[in-house]
Amino acid sequence: MKTLVVCYSNSGTTMSVAECIAQDLRADLDAIEEVKARPPLIFAGRKSKATVGAFMRAALAAVFGRCSKIAETRIDPSGYDLVVVGTPVWAGSLAPAVRSYLKRHRHALQRVAFFCSAGDPSKMRVFNQMRGLSGQVPVATIAVRSEDARTEACPKAIGEFVAQIRAALQAA
Ligand SMILES: Cc1cc2nc3c(=O)[nH]c(=O)nc-3n(C[C@H](O)[C@H](O)[C@H](O)COP(=O)(O)O)c2cc1C
Repeated sequence: MKTLVVCYSNSGTTMSVAECIAQDLRADLDAIEEVKARPPLIFAGRKSKATVGAFMRAALAAVFGRCSKIAETRIDPSGYDLVVVGTPVWAGSLAPAVRSYLKRHRHALQRVAFFCSAGDPSKMRVFNQMRGLSGQVPVATIAVRSEDARTEACPKAIGEFVAQIRAALQAA
């Protein structure tokens, strides 16, 4: 069973969750990159003052459901039994780059699981959006609090998520 973990990450938090999941699942790992990279929008858990305009553009693009131009990913997801897709939460929504990825690869994804990182993961519509874009019901989902992502809390937080994915792969 081949598993791919792939995410967009602006300031590294979602990628650190992705690394944690990929390590646990012994999965391949890939990054979604925008053709025109944004500056880091969050620094040490706070909005960077130098990038207020970029922050607003990012939030508006997310909330209005825009896509962004993304580069071809290093790994083709079509050869995988399960693709775990991750996004940071922007204005309660998925990031434009992840919207683009799901639209581009919608027909290549056999099974999916979703994760996100967010300052406050309690209120958001990200997984419903991802479900609509991929046309698939995920085998598992998890929202990780940003402040847990780079700490020892990460493997603990993803334990149940990874167990659900393993069970789905075994049942397949
Ligand atoms: C433009 C923008 C909008 C955001 N909106 C939200 C939000 O609505 N809810 C939330 O909990 N966190 C929000 N955040 C915080 C990010 O989801 C959080 O810092 C995330 O872990 C960043 O992931 P990354 O480092 O992989 O880019 C926002 C961050 C940015 C840059």
